[in-house]
Amino acid sequence: MKISIIGTGYVGLVSGTCFAEMGNSVICVDVDEQKIKKLKQGIIPIFEPGLENMVLENFNKGTLIFNTDIKEALKTSEICFIAVGTPMGEDGSADLKYVLDVAKSIGKHMTHHMYVVDKSTVPVGTADKVKNTIQKELDKRSSNLTFDVISNPEFLKEGAAIEDFMKPDRVVIGADNKKAFDVMHELYEPFLHKTDRFITMDIKSAEMTKYAANAMLATKISFMNEISQICEIVGADINKVRNGIGSDSRIGYSFIYPGCGYGGSCFPKDVQALAKTAKDFGYTPKILDAVEDVNNAQKKVIATKVIKRFGEDLSGKTFAVWGLSFKPETDDMREASSITIINELTSRGAKVKAYDPKARHEAETFYLKDNQNVEYVDSKYSALTNADAMILVTEWKEFRSPDFDEMAIRLNNKIIFDGRNQYKKEKLEAIGFEYHQIGVKS
Ligand code: UDX
Repeated sequence: MKISIIGTGYVGLVSGTCFAEMGNSVICVDVDEQKIKKLKQGIIPIFEPGLENMVLENFNKGTLIFNTDIKEALKTSEICFIAVGTPMGEDGSADLKYVLDVAKSIGKHMTHHMYVVDKSTVPVGTADKVKNTIQKELDKRSSNLTFDVISNPEFLKEGAAIEDFMKPDRVVIGADNKKAFDVMHELYEPFLHKTDRFITMDIKSAEMTKYAANAMLATKISFMNEISQICEIVGADINKVRNGIGSDSRIGYSFIYPGCGYGGSCFPKDVQALAKTAKDFGYTPKILDAVEDVNNAQKKVIATKVIKRFGEDLSGKTFAVWGLSFKPETDDMREASSITIINELTSRGAKVKAYDPKARHEAETFYLKDNQNVEYVDSKYSALTNADAMILVTEWKEFRSPDFDEMAIRLNNKIIFDGRNQYKKEKLEAIGFEYHQIGVKS
């Protein structure tokens, strides 16, 4: 099939590349000329396992084209995906400016019937706005061209996006006619290993499905983070409690890991946007607001433990931070807990030596650029030299089984603050470490 994808961010680039991989002809469009220029040179703007090779292969084959000209792309496309950003506006709602700009361009430039697919995460009712915007432009041209608007939310996890796209748990399609469902089924059939993974519904329910899924996942995390706080004060161990409850198949083991709070481009934004939509319709959500509050508090938990141990005034102290990205296998720093933790510590006079396998550039150039008290180093062990304690923030694989003898030699004190409960307390205490973790009394 001939597809154009508007927006070569995370979702657009991964989707376009995977569609091309399955033999479709894909044009990825972005207004950012620099980004398109780099993509044409094989420079990928994000780190995502497997993406670079797949982009290069399909680009060389000619099945994946990069362009800044939406008009040109629409000429040859049967399906146009909208995959531009929906950043959080001042009031917590999703800003639809970019989505509606694309809709406008589609209405202006389409030359034949189009299937317009919303892949960006957009509030319930956006498909109607997209439809009206396109129709308005067609009316201006006195055109009687027809189009269908479809909702097809993405469920990609950063760090596993290619795998998630190639073998999806489900494909959700919201549409209002059979032909639209059939076209989407044809497009996604090569990715479906079980037919029941293709789930069709009305457009509003599809839009809502995306928010409900992310809000449910965020709720699981905040719930566990709250339980971890309670465990700590009553003297229970969250790691044991997690095992105990996960064994109930109705609860399950996944997504119940307590930690430094969730970050990333989706959960924080989507939970707030859903709450805002509910409020706009006159309903004040109770759980969603609590999920957000618990998360904001959880981001501070590790810094609070450090302050409790070392005192309010941290001047003269240095802390090694392992992991900066919001989760492993990505260089994404959006809403990362490391930002809160590091800023809390340095605002009390501490110095930080930070190491991350991939996110150093993002941290240094954008997210922590104003913080002069952070020194970036190139290995996890060099971060420890003369540091007063190690703080683990992101659970990259290389942090899982470190050489504790080497750590003991380098650190001023054998103290670990583990924001992801990666180590065994008994083992560390047996070799003389003071070990602080989440949800267990130290
Ligand atoms: C998420 C959804 O999983 C995905 O379906 C959606 O399309 C986009 O948002 P992503 O943002 O890539 O994906 O991250 P995810 O792996 O879901 O993790 C989000 C955050 O939750 C991370 O900060 C992670 O550390 C945290 N988390 C996750 C926990 O604290 N505990 C857990 O048990 C799981």
